[in-house]
Amino acid sequence: MIRLVEMGPRDGLQNEARHVPAAVKVAFIDALSASGLPEIEVSAFVSPRAIPQLADAEEVFAAIARRPGVVYSALVPNERGLERALRARADKVAVFTAASETFNRHNIHAGIQESLERFGPVIEGARRAGVPVRGYVSTAFWCPYEGKIPPGKAVEVIRRLEGMGVEEVSVGDTIGKAVPGEVDALLDLLLGVIPVPRIALHFHDTYGHAVENVLASYARGIAIFDASTGGIGGCPFAPGATGNVSMERVIEALRGRGEPLQVDSVALARARGVISPSLGRVLGT
Ligand code: COA
Ligand code: ZN
Repeated sequence: MIRLVEMGPRDGLQNEARHVPAAVKVAFIDALSASGLPEIEVSAFVSPRAIPQLADAEEVFAAIARRPGVVYSALVPNERGLERALRARADKVAVFTAASETFNRHNIHAGIQESLERFGPVIEGARRAGVPVRGYVSTAFWCPYEGKIPPGKAVEVIRRLEGMGVEEVSVGDTIGKAVPGEVDALLDLLLGVIPVPRIALHFHDTYGHAVENVLASYARGIAIFDASTGGIGGCPFAPGATGNVSMERVIEALRGRGEPLQVDSVALARARGVISPSLGRVLGT
């Protein structure tokens, strides 16, 4: 069973230059909830100075209409973020590190080792609260500062994070530069190290390879994909990165492979219509 994880409200909006009012975010998330997508990353309980766009995470969580069965998740960088997320009743939290030392220092002011140490109590606290944890490994293929990341290096970080007890690891092509051969090379090393149901792939579409990369990983048995409706997104610490792979295009590509995905495309179009005036552009698919 394929599981699609909606990134628009968090990964998408954090990179948008225009400030989006909380009420619009709530309407966007409510529209996404109606589409049948199983999981929506709502916001991030990070430093408001680091990501001003998501400073209203509490307000957004409090106002969304939660549809039974949909998982509403949040990014948390540290214990303080976890406390905020639990208070806001996030269904799932996500910690995040990177395969690149330099990227990590820019993004979370910590190296790989230090970030993993910081996650220990976060993962434990989430477990005590009965909240599942996702772990992101960004820049798993390419880094905006260090260039090509050797697959062995990425797999080592993924393996360590998974070993800390997270439910799943999302492997990110943060700057959208990977090609299917590189995806295969990483999966050659990763499959067998971590059970496939714990691996998600997270592609950005900067160079137009994201859908091919989804299909390449799908062919290897991967069944969890991150994407954003309308392809909005990016990362403010990854210069030049564009949006997440478009949810609509991922759905179309996987349906083309015979996957019966229960997602209502009219609801997704409605969600695009809700958010696009605030972004100042018309969203394609
Ligand atoms: N929620 C709210 N504020 C937080 C916080 C949290 N979870 N964690 C730290 N802060 C605040 C601190 O109070 C402090 O505020 P101040 O400057 O007003 O005193 C400031 O953030 C810095 O805190 P500090 O503990 O010194 O951390 P830091 O400067 O090393 O920053 C992070 C570390 C992780 C908190 C910060 O870099 C961050 O939030 N990064 C998020 C980046 C991101 O979301 N990237 C998206 C993925 S591409
Ligand atoms: Zn991303």
